[in-house]
Amino acid sequence: MDIQLRPADQDDMLLIWRWANDLDVRKNAFSTDFISWESHVPWFLQKLASQQCTIYVGILDDIPIGQVRFDLMANHLCCDYMIDISIDLECRERGIGTELLRKAICVFTKSKHVRHLVAKVKKGNILSMKIFEKNHFVINEIKTTNDVFFYELIVND
Ligand SMILES: CC(C)(COP(=O)(O)OP(=O)(O)OC[C@H]1O[C@@H](n2cnc3c(N)ncnc32)[C@H](O)[C@@H]1OP(=O)(O)O)[C@@H](O)C(=O)NCCC(=O)NCCS
Repeated sequence: MDIQLRPADQDDMLLIWRWANDLDVRKNAFSTDFISWESHVPWFLQKLASQQCTIYVGILDDIPIGQVRFDLMANHLCCDYMIDISIDLECRERGIGTELLRKAICVFTKSKHVRHLVAKVKKGNILSMKIFEKNHFVINEIKTTNDVFFYELIVND
């Protein structure tokens, strides 16, 4: 599957907002409220400007199919990043999320000094659990709670 990645830019503002308000994306997020355009714009511009955040848009057959975001974790050493991923509703359950995540990790870890990737997945979000497990993330039992699996991947050089 030939997924291409490009860094998100200002032209993706509307696309990323639409994906963020997809029903399953909100349901599986930790803050489930609808995201207003007024709050999205400054949030997105701040993310684009930040050295601590990288957003990739995945492209398949010239169509944007999803996004992956890496956020430097607050209060952590310089090499720990939290991952957020979503796939366009029309493109789910075809292996695209697994492959987009694999490529994004590959590109991101080559471009930055990264030691540790983490993802928090609500229990019941089976698709998400599968894509992280297929990309060799393991559950940290200590940080996992009743509601949330805490996945992590140690990045090899
Ligand atoms: C989670 C998400 C990124 C996964 O991407 P995707 O492209 O749909 O996932 P994939 O098709 O790569 O993989 C899904 C896996 O789950 C399996 N699967 C699909 N439906 C399933 C079901 N009902 N029960 C169990 N497994 C299921 C698929 O068979 C596949 O596994 P396989 O490769 O072993 O066959 C995507 O569904 C999404 O954007 N969801 C909404 C946002 C979200 O939850 N983001 C993650 C927050 S942590």
